[in-house]
Amino acid sequence: MSPERGPLAGRRIVVGVTGSIAAYKAVLLVRRLMERGATVDVALTRSAAAFVTPLTFASLTHRPVVSDVLDLDAEQQIAHIELAEAADAVVVAPATANVLAELAIGMASSSVTAIACASRAPVVVAPAMDAGMWTNPATQRNVATLREFGYLLVEPEVGSLASGLTGIGRLAEPGTIADTVERLFERAGDLEGLRVVVSAGGTREPIDPVRFIGNRSSGKMGTAIAEAARDRGATVTLIAGAMSVNPPPGVSVVNATTAQAMRQAVMREAPGADILVMAAAVADFAPKQASGRKIKRDGAELQVELVPNPDIIAEVAEMPTDIRPFLIGFAAESQDLEANAIGKLRDKGLDLIVGNVVGGPFDAIGSDENKVTVFGSEGALTDWPMLPKRQIAERLWDLIADRYRSARGPDGAQKEKAGRRPRAGSAGSRR
Ligand code: C5P
Repeated sequence: MSPERGPLAGRRIVVGVTGSIAAYKAVLLVRRLMERGATVDVALTRSAAAFVTPLTFASLTHRPVVSDVLDLDAEQQIAHIELAEAADAVVVAPATANVLAELAIGMASSSVTAIACASRAPVVVAPAMDAGMWTNPATQRNVATLREFGYLLVEPEVGSLASGLTGIGRLAEPGTIADTVERLFERAGDLEGLRVVVSAGGTREPIDPVRFIGNRSSGKMGTAIAEAARDRGATVTLIAGAMSVNPPPGVSVVNATTAQAMRQAVMREAPGADILVMAAAVADFAPKQASGRKIKRDGAELQVELVPNPDIIAEVAEMPTDIRPFLIGFAAESQDLEANAIGKLRDKGLDLIVGNVVGGPFDAIGSDENKVTVFGSEGALTDWPMLPKRQIAERLWDLIADRYRSARGPDGAQKEKAGRRPRAGSAGSRR
């Protein structure tokens, strides 16, 4: 694609270079990004400047290079804040073990960490270090923290290292890093104009004022799905059950911690929405009557009568087609995943269902990763490996957007006449 028309055309990218021997490859990265049409600003840490001089980058980009956190720009503004605000993406490459640690705890002592910390644009981090440093548990914990914060990691590669040894830790090739940055913009905005409702977390069905029947759902999968939709330009409502994570900024949040409350919230939000993803683990049963007072122990057995909860997503599926959103359900199954998931998709009248196996050696509940298969009525549509939940969310949106557009036409035409609610405006694109 020509640089004038590709996804990086006219984008402002800040490349933050830190002190690794791989800093020379950042020169090539800057070139690759510029060749694809981006305007590139470079920030260097002091130790990076010992490997490659600011003059190299300034000559290449024809722009001033920020090498100190105290630098001012031509207008006497604080350079790292100006760049952080102007950036469409920040790329830290190479990222040393030290810079990963600083980013994970929010330190901003260098121009590079200050920009990454201050920017609301997506941050891509490409680590490079000795194999021992990369596999060190502290580094791995820092990497996991950064993923949780929404940083995009470009994994280091296996190969010969500066030490002379061969192992993992080599900076990914500049072309690979540039591809990752480009992908950020390929997807950006592909859900623009769509109103998406996502439910997440578990429900808690009260037995008395202090006790409930609940489940271990963390809400991490649904939250990742809501966040990814927000970053791709959708207007997102998150219906949040009981969750162990905070709802992401930039989405409207409706709290609903019982199945009945969730039903009410979904019935209010779903009509006229374009897509509903029911990732919440809704309790199938609730105590028939919650006791108004805390139940006392008196030595006798306690019987709690349970009644079935409404199947919320099945109810949405029955809505008239002009207000019924495109529907994605989840199925956690301990056996016969495919048969049970497709059975549920048909019984509940869904468009897609995301299945995963529970009760095996790997416990996805509460984990940052999962292995899922997406099914349509024709069978399995994906063969994805175990992935971080945010990456699952991105892949899910690729698939959902595709299917949604085939079902509804490029503009959701089937629904245009049906008094759709006006869009509340784009939800922004904070990481
Ligand atoms: O039947 P099962 O609970 O396995 O179905 C899972 C799917 O149905 C999930 O998408 C879940 O959010 C949804 N569900 C629902 N209402 C219920 C139970 C489950 O919408 N009462």
